Amino acid sequence: MTTATAAEAAYVVAALLFILSLAGLSQHRTSRSGVVWGIAGMVIALAATVGLASRSATATGLVLIAVATAVGAGIGLWRARVVEMTGMPELIAIMHSLVGLAAAFVGWNGYLDVDAGGHTGQEITGSLLRIHHAEVFIGVFIGAVTFTGSVVAYLKLSARIKSRPLMLPGRHALNLGALAAFVALTAAFVARPHMGLLIAVTVVALALGAHLVASIGGGDMPVVVSMLNSYSGWAAAASGFLLANNLLIVTGALVGSSGAYLSYIMCKAMNRSFLSVIAGGFGGETAVASDGADQGEHREISAEETAELLQDATSVIITPGYGMAVAQAQYPVAELARKLRERGVDVRFGIHPVAGRLPGHMNVLLAEANVPYDIVLEMDEINDDFAATSVVLVIGANDTVNPSAAEDPASPIAGMPVLHVWEAAQVVVFKRSMATGYAGVQNPLFFRENSQMLFGDAKQRVEDILRGLDATAAPVPAMVGTNR
Ligand code: TAP
Repeated sequence: MTTATAAEAAYVVAALLFILSLAGLSQHRTSRSGVVWGIAGMVIALAATVGLASRSATATGLVLIAVATAVGAGIGLWRARVVEMTGMPELIAIMHSLVGLAAAFVGWNGYLDVDAGGHTGQEITGSLLRIHHAEVFIGVFIGAVTFTGSVVAYLKLSARIKSRPLMLPGRHALNLGALAAFVALTAAFVARPHMGLLIAVTVVALALGAHLVASIGGGDMPVVVSMLNSYSGWAAAASGFLLANNLLIVTGALVGSSGAYLSYIMCKAMNRSFLSVIAGGFGGETAVASDGADQGEHREISAEETAELLQDATSVIITPGYGMAVAQAQYPVAELARKLRERGVDVRFGIHPVAGRLPGHMNVLLAEANVPYDIVLEMDEINDDFAATSVVLVIGANDTVNPSAAEDPASPIAGMPVLHVWEAAQVVVFKRSMATGYAGVQNPLFFRENSQMLFGDAKQRVEDILRGLDATAAPVPAMVGTNR
């Protein structure tokens, strides 16, 4: 078997492993094995690619490949080890920018190699040459859009620039103009390739990527990150066509389509228009200020009283949100669920699809704390059960349990599907203040007759409740009071 045949066979195996990996990652029960399949696929793909390259590479070339692999793997390992869960979106954004940059470089390299008499001097003529030119142009365009779009997303998510949307006059016309320029330049380049045209499309694409993301409001950035994930996949697939690399084509298409589908799911869960995300500039219309309407008085509850409430409960649903991640409260929350179940209470978790700051955020945290999978239910699976529930514990969640989304057509989050926690007999809301959530919208839940606020850091308050439950047999010692 030649090296080329062996590499092709290895690519098929790697592609299958990537498909297995995606299937595994789609459920938290199988997500760990999904990660292992992905690592195995990438090791095989890398080994096959280096094996292929070593056929024609000089000794210096091989050393350069080894150094690049070591440096890249070192940086990747270091970042993955130190990143906080809350910093994942910006890490993903900056990684996408590298995929985009690589795709733009591959496109430029394809042009220089063939048209400007590069060192490999490939012989391509006729319609194949025209297809090659179209691939170069599309690859450079998608790569450059992904590159600057991801850099701007990274800067916004890491608060290095303001997350407020950039509202240039005629911004939609600008985007459409850039797309029209791309089509016209592609036609011109395929007819008569010229480096000036390639430079022009690179500049247009860099500007378009930056503008698309700059004009999106901070509240909608996670959807944009998932959309850029999709773009980076298509950029990789374009590189695959240029390099005649089947694995890159398959992997790029997998990432491109799964990223697009994920964006679609997120848009649906937030009641956003999928098309507006692709077009950029949506989210600017989203109200970010809280409505100042007088909602009435809220009632407070102490951790000790919450422990008593839970002792009398027959069924409890816990709905976690971003605040649980901030407080790192998943371990005491898991312990609370375990203790209540030991006492015969029916405990379940209700997970909103966009709770937290990235898809599956809550599922990852609960899995980390060893909460059994079968008591963790999605919003659609549990929403009808709140009315028959004794106590709901809303732990650091806000927008995802806001009744105005379901009841007030004038609310900025009207139409967003939410967890119907207010239908339960009693609701205890864990947060540190009366501040609004991510969407900046006040939450009428806090002022309902069956709701009580348990102020303070979610982790500390849940630990207080655990102590309260432990002390039920003995006289209850002085508990930590509520604070804001
Ligand atoms: P949020 O609406 O952001 O509410 C989180 C709440 O946690 C806040 O009200 C905050 O109130 C509280 N909190 C923060 N730190 C806390 C701590 N240490 N202890 C106790 N409470 C704490 O979160 P959510 O309900 O999870 O909703 C997610 C939001 O993100 C939605 O608006 C959603 O559209 C948006 N979003 C999510 C995604 C994905 S994929 N997950 C994508 C796009 C957008 P205090 O400051 O008063 O404590």
